Amino acid sequence: MKLLLAALKHIHKPAASCRQQLRRSSGGLSALGEEAAVVGSSRELVRRLGSRVEVRTGFISEEEEAALLLELEPGLKKKRYEFDHWDDAIHGYRETERVRWGAACEEILNRVRSEAFPEGSSLLGPVHVLDLDKTGFIKPHIDSVKFCGSTIAGLSLLSDSIMRLVKENDSSEWLDLLLSRRSLYILRDEARYDFTHEILKDEESVFNGQRVPRDRRISVICRNLPG
Ligand code: OGA
Ligand code: MN
Repeated sequence: MKLLLAALKHIHKPAASCRQQLRRSSGGLSALGEEAAVVGSSRELVRRLGSRVEVRTGFISEEEEAALLLELEPGLKKKRYEFDHWDDAIHGYRETERVRWGAACEEILNRVRSEAFPEGSSLLGPVHVLDLDKTGFIKPHIDSVKFCGSTIAGLSLLSDSIMRLVKENDSSEWLDLLLSRRSLYILRDEARYDFTHEILKDEESVFNGQRVPRDRRISVICRNLPG
């Protein structure tokens, strides 16, 4: 257990090159019209990287969200939010990991796994649960290539949020993802390896010009093993 948590912690080291200020081009461009959950620095990038990024709005029902919360809240409530690790990629969070789930949650997670990973892929056994306080946020980072494979799939509970992807060696290339409450996102291949990802803090939480208030947010994240 201790070892697994240490491995997860390792994920959160931000890439040094990503601490620089983002140069944003003005106005996101949507390739899919009004309802799009992905906008970016250019249509071309949204089209190119879009195939490696999915956001499924309303992936779980209110009842399924409640089932996950019922199972997760007792354990999370015993922990305190961590704020004071200045070098961490994540601020204002508590986290846990879980291998065994009740039947209702296992069914939800199996649906995530079958949507996100090809059949027969080797998955990271424990599911990662990250609880961000309302004031919490995740700085730009790339998940450890040592511990995690090509695909990251996450459910968002309790709050909408914005995930920003920025190309590691060219910050003019970026995508913003609107992760609505109960959505599923999937990052694959270059979206996972060549772009940093971050979750914006409440003050900065704006999607395509529209303010998206950030509250406490819990993510439930499935990953595969490096190939
Ligand atoms: C992480 C991470 C994103 C999320 O824990 O490495 O990027 O959706 N989490 O919480
Ligand atoms: Mn990450």
